Amino acid sequence: MKFSFAAPDLGTKGAIAVGVAEGRKLGRAAGTLDQRSGGAIRRALAGSKFSGKLGELLDIPGPSGVPQSRIVLYGLGKPEDLVEGKAEDLGGGVFALLNTTPERAAAIVVDPGAGLAAPQAAARMAYGARLRAYRFDKYRTKQKKEDLPKLDRVVFMVADSAAARQAFAPLDKVAEAICFARDLVAEPPNVIYPASMAARVRTLTKLGLTVEVLGIKEMRNYGMGALLGVAQGSTNDPRVVVMRWNGAARGKAPIAFIGKGVTFDSGGLSLKTSKGMEDMKWDMAGSAAVVGTMAALAGRRAKTNAVGVIGLVENMPSGAAQRPGDVVTSASGQTIEVLNTDAEGRLVLADVLWYCQDRFKPVAMIDLATLTGAIIMALGHEHAGLFANNDELSDSLTKAGKSVGERVWRLPLADAYDKQINSDIADMKNIGEGNAGSIIGAQFLKRFANDVPWAHLDIAGVAWSKKDAPTVPKGATGWGIRLLDRLVRDRYEG
Ligand code: BES
Ligand code: MN
Ligand code: ZN
Repeated sequence: MKFSFAAPDLGTKGAIAVGVAEGRKLGRAAGTLDQRSGGAIRRALAGSKFSGKLGELLDIPGPSGVPQSRIVLYGLGKPEDLVEGKAEDLGGGVFALLNTTPERAAAIVVDPGAGLAAPQAAARMAYGARLRAYRFDKYRTKQKKEDLPKLDRVVFMVADSAAARQAFAPLDKVAEAICFARDLVAEPPNVIYPASMAARVRTLTKLGLTVEVLGIKEMRNYGMGALLGVAQGSTNDPRVVVMRWNGAARGKAPIAFIGKGVTFDSGGLSLKTSKGMEDMKWDMAGSAAVVGTMAALAGRRAKTNAVGVIGLVENMPSGAAQRPGDVVTSASGQTIEVLNTDAEGRLVLADVLWYCQDRFKPVAMIDLATLTGAIIMALGHEHAGLFANNDELSDSLTKAGKSVGERVWRLPLADAYDKQINSDIADMKNIGEGNAGSIIGAQFLKRFANDVPWAHLDIAGVAWSKKDAPTVPKGATGWGIRLLDRLVRDRYEG
């Protein structure tokens, strides 16, 4: 799909989408087209429920008197409705409708006068459209031509098209990073396993990222017994990948992102049911979000120092697999009794968190992980779980989440929960008494953050979606990249 910007031209062929404000107030382009078509727009409005609320759509195929084969009206709402995130949703929604029509080319006209300046609105709408246009069909060999979308180019028409193009440039980079991460999550687990994922991340050196890959030998040397215990049941060896972006002064402490990258989670010897395993290729979504965030920061040349560290393992049952009851020694020196091999994400993160703070002395660490099924019980698919040992970091994440539409909800940490993971024979065990599973998981991680300002995002409910959303087609969402990119912009840049 090709997206571009140009000055308004109502003589364009194909489809054209134009804005209508609340109360059926036609925008400038809509008014002109209505006149030229002998009132086709007003007639269509009269026969519809379209009122101009933000995001409403009305498809008018075959208007006469104009060169366009269809006119699509999009609701702009009230001027104050059109904030950045809403403009993205609007762009995604308009694009999705155009994409179901037989048109090959479409123009989306952005009139001045809405809440956002027109070039900003156009850039945000294009960003939303670009994100909605994502597809993953490399494994479909029998798609019929008539079932595929026809649309292949969309031009955003706006008076100051140069300003829109300029505003879109960094957003385009972030979108590219999100699509890269979505691909990683969507790929099947026979294609994406620790070594192959590490290889894909390496390709990001072209953006200026430094990428370093640790193998089993380096992990043993560092003493990553917890991560290695999870990996030992699989014939696919683990990897730890370290990505660095240096966009600020040398020596300035970085912000750190840490990701759970279980490329397939069978549960290990604490085996999942077949149903419970179906989705477990995306148990690496936390690590993909970290990769995507680093790619976004590098892509838009963010003025910050950032480091991303991901732990890649496959959790499998086998004669070599770790047993429930095994005791492992983590990189921190703390020992862990592994009572349930399916609570593996925390074991991987324990070593990666420790390594990250020890090596990089970051100003803060944020980890992302599809850590618990329990977070889906608590928050469904509308919020990710947030846990933090630092209120400021927690507040910044909550605020950033609201502005980009990737919402987080804070849950508590407390000694009373922490007690539950004390073990009878080791420093801790990897499960609690059964309730508050997401909090227990977070308490476990907290023991490896070493008092560095730290936040944990449990993204099990938001990493994958079963239905389309305005800027996120169903499937891998790439959740977390917009959030963290925004957090960096708000707090760690410049
Ligand atoms: N990867 C799962 C969490 C998960 C489950 C994500 C369902 C998405 C959907 C994680 O490794 C896991 O198995 N967690 C266990 C923890 C339990 C054994 C303490 C869980 O949630 O059941
Ligand atoms: Mn598991
Ligand atoms: Zn898992």
